[in-house]
Amino acid sequence: MIKIGLLGLGTVGSGVYKIINDNRESIEQKVGTELKIEKILVSDTNKKRSVEINKELLTDQAENILENPEIDLVVELIGGEEPAYSYVKKAIDNNKSVITANKLIIAKHGSEILKAANQNNVQISFEGSVAGGIPIIRPLKESLVASNINNIYGILNGTTNYILTKMTEEKKEFKEVLKEAQELGYAESDPTSDISGLDAAYKIAILSSITFETYVNINSVYSEGIEDITLTDIKVADELGYVIKLLAIAKKQNEGIDIRVHPAFISKKHPLALVNGVYNAIYLNGEIVGDIMSYGKGAGQMPTGSAVVADIIQTAKDIHYNRPNIYSNESTLKHMVIDIDEIKNLFYLRVLVNDKPGVMSEVTEILGNNQVSLASVLQKHRLSPVVPLDLVTHPVREENLNNSLKELKTLNNVKSIESVIRVIEDF
Ligand SMILES: NC(=O)c1ccc[n+]([C@@H]2O[C@H](COP(=O)([O-])OP(=O)(O)OC[C@H]3O[C@@H](n4cnc5c(N)ncnc54)[C@H](OP(=O)(O)O)[C@@H]3O)[C@@H](O)[C@H]2O)c1
Repeated sequence: MIKIGLLGLGTVGSGVYKIINDNRESIEQKVGTELKIEKILVSDTNKKRSVEINKELLTDQAENILENPEIDLVVELIGGEEPAYSYVKKAIDNNKSVITANKLIIAKHGSEILKAANQNNVQISFEGSVAGGIPIIRPLKESLVASNINNIYGILNGTTNYILTKMTEEKKEFKEVLKEAQELGYAESDPTSDISGLDAAYKIAILSSITFETYVNINSVYSEGIEDITLTDIKVADELGYVIKLLAIAKKQNEGIDIRVHPAFISKKHPLALVNGVYNAIYLNGEIVGDIMSYGKGAGQMPTGSAVVADIIQTAKDIHYNRPNIYSNESTLKHMVIDIDEIKNLFYLRVLVNDKPGVMSEVTEILGNNQVSLASVLQKHRLSPVVPLDLVTHPVREENLNNSLKELKTLNNVKSIESVIRVIEDF
């Protein structure tokens, strides 16, 4: 029998509890032995629960799980940095295998957690931490290990994808859609982590650490959110044959890893353009395998719960058959993260200028002086006496582009730079 200690019985914890109880027979058959949820840590033992539960199982004292020698496996579903990280470390130090869906502690402390698991010869799994129900961590570690994956493009945040989809389909501004998303429960009351790109940054840091066998520090991941995307941006993107998505990108280059999260124009024909609403997807380019895309629900009680239960089954099996920890070896490879200033991208720029002769040549002169060349210029929507210039550049270093924008802002005829959005074409 494998005894499990559950830390947290909220959205995902309740899903895990329910999946195990409703499918006990088939799960135990897969594991090869009985599974018993021995104790569940919550902050309030008197709270009304969404699952029927024997109150004797609940505790508000973490040591009842972490110091219990009978418990083999600890499942951390509390979330946040502390006390979750300390509990995970304590469980590993006490020779318990750990499963977590906590992207924050894996992205920030993954290296220490893997090292500790390795030293104690226990398992650590975290499939639920990235893209909820989409199997991606284990495939990257196992099935795709010989594929030489060089590029990862992900839509890894359901809230922002929902907002961008609604803005596109219903022609509404960001603030209006965010409010609706909050009322429907698709966005948190404090949505900062989602809309700022930070949530996706944690997830791409985890995926690239695994894929490129290195440790990517979350602080070195450039991230930019969707809060400045306007309906006009979405309309212009549409006219040019693009949709706007919040992309998480990680690419292995000769100089290091190009890793970033930002909104991007992508071709309407690209498979990622069809990933709408709260859905997530991960698109990979492998030298050997070619292109792969995984698509599914990136969050939610049951999708995430099923990823956690899959980890529980695999880990319980490993414990039951006394298999050693083979996945927590810390990589010795070190890859530098390339500074965002050095990355080359195509850009869409929307510049409001005075409707006067010679203005276009003033703008193009500054762009040219900074090695920014234009692929297309659109000048349709006249708001006389001010007109918008919608420009798309050829690939240009971010630093050169930023220098040119600084100079453009000093021109009397430039009223404002309304939008600067990267265009991703080299999938
Ligand atoms: N929700 C999703 O769709 C989703 C998707 C992917 C990954 N995840 C990850 O899964 C993890 C859990 O998320 P969730 O949405 O299930 O969270 P949640 O609904 O807020 O549940 C958190 C649980 O932890 C307990 N808890 C919180 N602080 C505690 C403390 N200091 N001591 C003891 N217990 C404490 C709470 O107890 P009470 O019940 O007594 O309040 C609750 O049962 C997070 O890392 C999250 O990022 C969630």
